[in-house]
Amino acid sequence: KKVVLAYSGGLDTSVILKWLQEAYGCEVVTFTADLGQGEELEPARRKAEMLGIKPENIYIEDLREDFVRDYVFPMFRANALYEGLYLLGTSIARPLISRRQIEIARETGADAVAHGATGKGNDQVRFELAYYALNPDIRVIAPWREWDLNSRTKLIDFAEKHQIPIAKDKRGEAPFSVDANLLHISAEGKVLEDPWEEPQEYVYSRSVSPEEAPDQPTYIEIEFETGDPVAIDGQRLSPAALLTELNRLGGANGIGRLDLVENRFVGMKSRGVYETPGGTVLLAAHRGIEQLTLDRGAAHLKDEVMPRYAELIYNGFWYSPEREMLQALIDRSQEHVNGTVRLKLYKGSATVVGRKSPDSLYSLAHVTFEEDAVYDQRDAEGFIKLNALRLRLLKRGQEHG
Ligand code: ARG
Ligand code: SIN
Repeated sequence: KKVVLAYSGGLDTSVILKWLQEAYGCEVVTFTADLGQGEELEPARRKAEMLGIKPENIYIEDLREDFVRDYVFPMFRANALYEGLYLLGTSIARPLISRRQIEIARETGADAVAHGATGKGNDQVRFELAYYALNPDIRVIAPWREWDLNSRTKLIDFAEKHQIPIAKDKRGEAPFSVDANLLHISAEGKVLEDPWEEPQEYVYSRSVSPEEAPDQPTYIEIEFETGDPVAIDGQRLSPAALLTELNRLGGANGIGRLDLVENRFVGMKSRGVYETPGGTVLLAAHRGIEQLTLDRGAAHLKDEVMPRYAELIYNGFWYSPEREMLQALIDRSQEHVNGTVRLKLYKGSATVVGRKSPDSLYSLAHVTFEEDAVYDQRDAEGFIKLNALRLRLLKRGQEHG
């Protein structure tokens, strides 16, 4: 028996690694991905080796470009927000990790996959729905739902017993649980569990507070091609490099902080604190270029399906026919979403202050307050009268009835 473990190199997944060897007696393949979480990956390799994983069973991959190009950008074409506010930073990373685990299982002849998500959250659902969608026969092991290491003390005892190194700061309870990638960093649990208590400044790591941000605004220009950003201030960048740069610009101006109570798919409410600096700038910019280039019918239709699309991603249905159908609709809408947006970044806000496009549908000739030659204002009279007809009949009926 062989299992592919999503391995961060941290204490929890190291304990899982040992536990899989013990409880299941199986050969473990570790998979560690760089999704832009901002941590070195080589320590994870050394740790896996130390815990007895054969070198050929250690997979370490830089997936930052795949992540942004194939997951983040397609999602941003939809302007996706869960419950009106959450930019889905954790949700969108799970399908990619799952896909690589399933591929590695195939390559190495493993019959099982394992992850370190708890039995209370969304992540277990996302990992496992993706696993099953991509390989209906895969065996899934979720140690947090099975073992009895459900307290910090038991976990530390297990680690000590098996010579798993424990960083000094990991001995005590971490103040909250963190998940990070190029799109966001999230904090949940522990000191954040009272939704009435304001998150303290130490919770944040990717942005200065708006109060501390520069007193001068930063102006930037973002160029779009078929709905995706391709350049900042005239400089073309790869997807991951572009998002990295937007994170820097947004973070320096206090942009992208969110304190949210959300509905988990499993039924409970939870409080999360998120930082999505680059994503927040990108959402504003993408809406800015769509304002100029999308037809009203197209724009309103994609806005109608957006909450549904966001919920599918949140709930873990990335690999589902309905998500792919909605993606096809959204991608089709982006054919002419080309052009440049100018934004003002200032103390926590990203404001669109200019937009231009070779595919602009904006007609000054039609909209001008000055005299024009293309629009006959008398046409509006009949347009309004026919639209008012049913309202007038209704009112009359009420008055006489
Ligand atoms: N609540 C967010 C979500 O469901 C963030 C989850 C964070 N995950 C974690 N393992 N810390 O997408
Ligand atoms: C977890 O429970 O593993 C993290 C939180 C979540 O998945 O929603």
